[in-house]
Amino acid sequence: MPCAKQSSPVGDLNSTFLSREGIPSIRSVPRPRPIPPRRAAQRLLAWFDAHKRPLPWRRDRDPYRIWVAEVLLQQTQVAQARPYFERFVGRFPDLRTLARADMQEVLKLWEGAGYYARAHRLHRAARDLVDHHQGRLPTTRAQWAELPGVGPYISAAVASLAFDEPVVALEANGLRVAARLRRDPGDLRSPVTRRRLERELARYLPPARAGAFNEAIMELGETVCLPRHPLCPLCPLRSNCRAFRTLEDPSAIPRPRRAVRRPRLVAAVVVVERRGRWLVRRRPVGGLLGGLWEFPGGKPHRGESLEAAARRELREETGLKAEKLAPAGVIRHSYSHFSVELYLFRGPARGRPAAERPDAPLRWVTPAEFRSLPRPGATIKAVQRLGRPGKREGAGDGDG
Ligand code: ADE
Repeated sequence: MPCAKQSSPVGDLNSTFLSREGIPSIRSVPRPRPIPPRRAAQRLLAWFDAHKRPLPWRRDRDPYRIWVAEVLLQQTQVAQARPYFERFVGRFPDLRTLARADMQEVLKLWEGAGYYARAHRLHRAARDLVDHHQGRLPTTRAQWAELPGVGPYISAAVASLAFDEPVVALEANGLRVAARLRRDPGDLRSPVTRRRLERELARYLPPARAGAFNEAIMELGETVCLPRHPLCPLCPLRSNCRAFRTLEDPSAIPRPRRAVRRPRLVAAVVVVERRGRWLVRRRPVGGLLGGLWEFPGGKPHRGESLEAAARRELREETGLKAEKLAPAGVIRHSYSHFSVELYLFRGPARGRPAAERPDAPLRWVTPAEFRSLPRPGATIKAVQRLGRPGKREGAGDGDG
């Protein structure tokens, strides 16, 4: 399905809604009467056909591409997800290529996108489909929902966008649109509110174009029904929007959530260097930043100094005993749910790391080898700070 030529959803604002003083005013916009939901949906589809952005997952209705896009978009905005999508499907253009790929390569392409469990589950699901379902992608919502990592939203989104199954798919933007349409004061995180909003949108859903309808609702949320400053005069659903019809400020729905402070984590990190290589370790798969590579280190215990924590973490994680450690800078980095402050220490260490097989979670790497491994954002910054590893440092017991 080729994408229509774009025209800006805000293009006609000035000519239509400027007040006499030249100031746009939402109060000056007429409030038309509500129309039957299916007719309103036709207006929405006409708006979508004219204004939809030519996003790369809209090029066709390939369920594999739509699936990858929806997984990436689940916790990421369109502008951020887009380059990841292009890189990912450029390297893994179909299910079988993804299933055959090494998990480390999948993570490398995901590096920076966050929520790495999504990449693990996508890969596991691809392998599952190739190993047990002849490499055939599901076609119904119920079948999609059986795959690892595919919840109610993604199953509904792929089944409707790729196959027009008549089901409502509501992500964060769609939930906001639906809440305003109903003037629903409920908490959008609550499953009860979600089900109520799905039922509301089901009244609008055109059975023959369910996929376009769901995508149009998302697009409306992303470009018009904005969280803080909705562009109501441009909205194709405004005649049926109770928030627009009855509230002075439609953005009062949904109720603003209390800002949650991101936890701040402090860690001591040890950079051990031998003959131009660093000792690095792979984080356990299944945990935070699972499967990514970093320098050994961790949180100090209560009352423990950062340097003592650095020594202890190195011993626990690698079996090496640090000798003289020198401070090597502080790195600050914010992830989506927390921020970290890494206190770097650098110096020689005695002993042999527990294991050095290629598949082991400890490796001696050159800077170039380290660059090719998937790494957390804070580690990427730490490497930029460190420069090259020393050539002579860290004689230790002489292995390398
Ligand atoms: N957000 C989630 N899925 C989307 C899609 N298919 N298009 C635009 N934004 C989205």
